[in-house]
Amino acid sequence: MNKIIISPSILSADFANLEKEVCAVKEAGAHWLHIDVMDGHFVPNITIGVPVVKSLRRVTDLILDTHLMIENPDKYIEPFVQAGADILTFHYEACKGSEDVKSVITKIKNSGIKAGISIKPKTPPEDIFPYLNEVDLVLIMTVEPGFGGQEFIHDCAMKIPKIKEQAPDGLIIQVDGGINNLTAKICTSLGANSLVAGSYIYGSKDYKKAIDSLL
Ligand code: DX5
Ligand code: ZN
Repeated sequence: MNKIIISPSILSADFANLEKEVCAVKEAGAHWLHIDVMDGHFVPNITIGVPVVKSLRRVTDLILDTHLMIENPDKYIEPFVQAGADILTFHYEACKGSEDVKSVITKIKNSGIKAGISIKPKTPPEDIFPYLNEVDLVLIMTVEPGFGGQEFIHDCAMKIPKIKEQAPDGLIIQVDGGINNLTAKICTSLGANSLVAGSYIYGSKDYKKAIDSLL
């Protein structure tokens, strides 16, 4: 059986107690930590940036799975790498054409970390087929990016098998948005092998029980 990577999103954590919240999900069995970076332009919300990643790096050895919901991702690769990100996932829609997409991927990979490409709900999976051999991870958004706690868009899950069919061995297929015990099963049965969950995990009383229920 393929291993499913659980990446709790700290967007729904208690920001006043971030270290405690990160350690708690690690204890509870999380494999990665999902960090949502939003700039108020690419998405209508502002969250956290480089200094928070840097601080988190000091207190955890979890893989820092950093989701850039920002315009001009190329400008911020180096600062996030310096801060200690292990994976940088940028949005296909934030790029200006295929040369830009390729140069963002190359820049991330040349920094020695993993590169991910993400698509919003309205973007067809075919748009990113040309890049599947270049990236380490594909992130399929199952809500409109910007906020935690939204409802899972079922149609988006149908992109998973389309990506999987074209994917080289070892490509990580991640889903993000509205993941709970039920939607997790839909996604993993369709071929996703990494699940991001924010409100489902951090909104529960027992993080371990919540994480176990996704597997
Ligand atoms: C939304 C973010 C998600 C968010 C998911 O734009 O990319 O990572 O935290 O939150 P839930 O799991 O609550 O839908
Ligand atoms: Zn995210």
